[in-house]
Amino acid sequence: MSRFDGFVAKYMGDGVLVYFGYPEAHEDDPERAVRAGLELVVAVGNLKAQAALQTRVGIATGLVVIGDLIGSGASQEQAVVGKTPNLAARLQSVAEPDMVVIAESTQRLIGNLFELEDLGTKDLKGIDEPVRAWAALRPSSVESRFEAFHASGLTDLVGRQEELDALLRRWSKVLNGEGQVVLLSGEAGIGKSRLTAALVERLATEPHTRLRYFCSPRHTDSALYPIISQMERAAGFAHGDTARTKLDKLDAVLAQSFTPPQDRALFAELLSIPNDGRYPTLEMSPRQRRQRTLEALTTQTVALAEQTPLLMIFEDVHWIDPTSLEAVGRGMRPDLVLADYNLPNGMNGVQVSQRLRQELDGQTPFIILTGDISTETLRDIALHDCVYLNKPVKLTELTGAIEKLLAKPPDPQLVRALRAADVDSGDAQRKTGI
Ligand SMILES: Nc1ncnc2c1ncn2[C@@H]1O[C@H](COP(=O)(O)OP(=O)(O)OP(=O)(O)O)[C@@H](O)[C@H]1O
Ligand SMILES: [Mg+2]
Repeated sequence: MSRFDGFVAKYMGDGVLVYFGYPEAHEDDPERAVRAGLELVVAVGNLKAQAALQTRVGIATGLVVIGDLIGSGASQEQAVVGKTPNLAARLQSVAEPDMVVIAESTQRLIGNLFELEDLGTKDLKGIDEPVRAWAALRPSSVESRFEAFHASGLTDLVGRQEELDALLRRWSKVLNGEGQVVLLSGEAGIGKSRLTAALVERLATEPHTRLRYFCSPRHTDSALYPIISQMERAAGFAHGDTARTKLDKLDAVLAQSFTPPQDRALFAELLSIPNDGRYPTLEMSPRQRRQRTLEALTTQTVALAEQTPLLMIFEDVHWIDPTSLEAVGRGMRPDLVLADYNLPNGMNGVQVSQRLRQELDGQTPFIILTGDISTETLRDIALHDCVYLNKPVKLTELTGAIEKLLAKPPDPQLVRALRAADVDSGDAQRKTGI
C-alpha cells in the first residue's frame, strides 16, 4: 500500500480500509488504488499460510470528509464520512474471491489502463439505485498513457503549427541520413504528448519504423523498463501466453532486425522468458551479460535504422531508469572525435578523451589539435593514444588523418563542414559537432 501511497486508515475484522488521495492527492489516485488492489490479491495468494487465502477488493471514488466531530488524535483522521466508503464496502461484498470490483466513478477515471469485465448493474444494500460495477482484471497492454485517456479520439490540434513544422523539418533531415535528437520540454499538461501524437499522425503514411517507449514514475529503478515493455508490446504478448508462444512471437519481431540467436537469447532473458533450447545457452558473468545486452540493443536499433527511417519516441523521459539511459546513449557513439587541446571549462582535450572513452567503454579515436608544441603537451597526447595535429592544420592533412583512423575516406558532408569551419580557431567543433 505504501508503494502506491495508500493510507491504511482502519483494520476492521479481516478487512482493511485504505484511502488513496489522502493525506496527499495525486493525479492518478484511482489508478493507484486499482493497481494496489490487483497486487494485493496476488500478494495475499502467495502468502504461506495453513489454508489458501483469498481476497476481495471494492473500490469507489468520490468526495468524502475525513475527520470526526467526536474523538481526537489518530481516530480523527481515520474516520471518513460520505457515500463513497459505503459504496466501496458494498462492492467488496459482491466481489468473487480474488476479484477487484470497481464503481463507475472509478472506472471513468482510469481510461483504458486496465482490462475490465462489465459486471452489469447490482442492487446493493443501503443504496437506492442499482449501481454499475466492473471487475478490474489486469493492467492492459495499452501503448501510451496519453492514448489510454484519449481512446475516444483526439480533439483537433489547436495552434502548434510552428512546433509541428520544426519537428517535420528535423524529420526531413533524418530522411537525408542525418540522425536527429529533439527534446520536447515544458510544464505538465502543456501539450507535449499531444504534439508528439500529431507528429505520429502526420508520418502515418510515410514509410518508417516507429518505436515508442514510455517511462513511468513507478519504474525509475527497474532496469530497462521502457525497453522491455516496448518489446513486449511489439511482440504482442497476450495474457496467458505460454513461454513457447512468447518466444515464437519474440522471434517474429526479431526476424525484422535479423537478430542473431545469441542476441535473441539475451532478449528472451531480458523479458524473463525461459529459453526452451532454441537459443544457445549463455555462459557469462552478470557484468558481461549486461554489457552484451546493451550491445545487442544497439545492434538491433542500427539494423532497423538501416532498413527504413527510424523514429524513436521516449515519453516522460525524466522517469527513465539509468540502464535505459545508458542503452540510448550508446546509440550516439561517435565514430571519431576532433578536439582542441585547450578547451574552455576546465578539462583539456586529452582529459575529455579519457572521460569519453571511459563512458563509452571503448577506444573512440581522437584527433587533438594544438598550437602548443611543448614536450609536456605532446607527451600527454601521445601517452593517451590520441592523434596529434599541429595548428595551423591544412584540410588535406586533417582529412588524411581521419581517413587513416576510420580506415575509410571521411563523409563528403563532413569534409564540406570542415572546409566551411575555421578549424584552427577551434570553431570546427562547434560548427560540425564532431
Ligand atoms: N495544441 C493542442 N490542441 C488541442 N488539444 C491540446 C493541445 N495541446 C494539449 N492539448 C490537450 O491538453 C491535454 C494535455 O496535453 P498533453 O497530455 O499532451 O500534455 P503533456 O505536456 O504531455 O503533459 P504531461 O507533462 O502531464 O505529460 C490533453 O488532453 C491534450 O489533448
Ligand atoms: Mg505527456
